[in-house]
Amino acid sequence: MVNTAVFDKWHADVADSPAWARIFQQALALPPEVVSNSLLTGAGLAEVVAALRVAPGQILVDLACGRGGYGREVARRTGARLVGLDFSAVAVAIAAHCGPRSQARFCVADFTAPGLRDHSADAVMCIDAIQFGDPPVAALRQCRRILASGGRLAVTAWEPVGPVPETVPEVIRRVNLGRDLLEAGFEQIEVTEKPQWHAAERTLYEAALQTDDSGDPALASLQKEATQVLAAFDATRRVLATATAPKAGRAIPLRGHYPPPGRQWSMEWCSSTI
Ligand SMILES: C[S@@+](CC[C@H](N)C(=O)[O-])C[C@H]1O[C@@H](n2cnc3c(N)ncnc32)[C@H](O)[C@@H]1O
Repeated sequence: MVNTAVFDKWHADVADSPAWARIFQQALALPPEVVSNSLLTGAGLAEVVAALRVAPGQILVDLACGRGGYGREVARRTGARLVGLDFSAVAVAIAAHCGPRSQARFCVADFTAPGLRDHSADAVMCIDAIQFGDPPVAALRQCRRILASGGRLAVTAWEPVGPVPETVPEVIRRVNLGRDLLEAGFEQIEVTEKPQWHAAERTLYEAALQTDDSGDPALASLQKEATQVLAAFDATRRVLATATAPKAGRAIPLRGHYPPPGRQWSMEWCSSTI
């Protein structure tokens, strides 16, 4: 299983790589201000925004937020208040310094034990990271626990298709969002295949392989990944999974009461342990 030290180094390398930023912006057609640690396209981001149905002032949690680019952009477009969590302290430090603090907080936490209070989130997003949950359903159960009744979840991921070769990483081979969202207690589950996102991913990997890595460790690791992924590209499919937390959940002690009148919102009213 991947650990925080591996991701800390990867995040530091990626943040220091102009080639990475250029390749991702172009292949994924992202707005220039959105930093990406994943393979979600600009059009895909718009679909995530629509799926979350989060309103101004509501709490949006970005689980495994990386450097926070997607979460910040969703918060900017919707007016939601963002709580970003990642187990990499390096990613969280970068995320916290990449934009204004007024509408966003970032914390170091494992998404299988995020430490947020029950029903404290109005919407949860998890972009290209659920496969790292050990197992993924453990992270989805936490999404269900922290979401308010009727709260929305959007997860982007890859799933195996048919008999999958051993070259596809084990973390991808075990992803089955329809099954796991049901087991985690969600309703209105939809898992939709996204061929256009997958095509953009192929373009990105091909662009990476055509770029001189010139001692750039982020690019070198992207090229290694590209070779591995392209060799078994059709053994996976790209998906957007959306779901709703059941209406009959527990009462939500925080919403409508916090922050107290005249006080600024803070992590304390969203989390008891971070
Ligand atoms: C492919 S990156 C995606 C980052 C971000 N969501 C984005 O789209 O830019 C995967 C992220 O998952 C984080 N991660 C992996 N396992 C985690 C865990 N158990 N808890 C929290 N974060 C985790 C990594 O540090 C990394 O930032």
